[in-house]
Amino acid sequence: MNPKQLVGEKATEYIKENMIVGLGTGSTAYFAIMKIGEMVKNGFRITGVPTSKATEDLALSLNIPLLNIADVKKIDVTIDGADEYDTHKNLIKGGGGALLREKIIASITEFYVIIADKDKGCDILGDFAVPVEVTPFAKEITINQLKALGCEPKFRQKDAELFITDNQNYIADCKFKEIKNPKELTAMINSIPGVVENGLFVGMADVIISDDGEGGIIEID
Ligand code: A5P
Repeated sequence: MNPKQLVGEKATEYIKENMIVGLGTGSTAYFAIMKIGEMVKNGFRITGVPTSKATEDLALSLNIPLLNIADVKKIDVTIDGADEYDTHKNLIKGGGGALLREKIIASITEFYVIIADKDKGCDILGDFAVPVEVTPFAKEITINQLKALGCEPKFRQKDAELFITDNQNYIADCKFKEIKNPKELTAMINSIPGVVENGLFVGMADVIISDDGEGGIIEID
């Protein structure tokens, strides 16, 4: 079994009947959602809250019942992927561009499960550029202010156009060297007026489920 499927399916063991479940975005979360779809097909009752339009479409195609976000107060368990994680369970997320919805969902989640293959683990975050969601208005000013924090920011492109998020914003991928203090950096990035949210998830993950490279599973909690 490939590591993404291994960790994705393992994560569903945290789901109990009648829970409200946050459904992550990306190629690892895909396997968790497929498994949840199978569970629902076999009569297991849960309701889902998707973290992106792509995940909403996938969940609907699997007949997973979904809640309208306006009606959600608390989520029992969310299962989502990550682009990089450190030994303190701090994360970089947003490689798929869904970081804003993912962070909102994470912020009301009781138990946040991250699934990521072992190659994404590191001692200090920073190999992966931090995705930052930016409002279209005055995006040049915002990117200069990001640059002043000591990174190399680049607007993400898709098909030779600027990538547009589910919330109609842009993503600036900000390459820092070593992120020694992710908590401080997240506050600094979010203090820029044109920034909507950034992909550093600090102190949010309760467990990280990863593979050991030999077909086994490691849980960091
Ligand atoms: C989506 O915006 C991201 O935060 C994903 O969760 C993250 O990029 C991990 O994606 P993969 O599982 O596809 O690597």
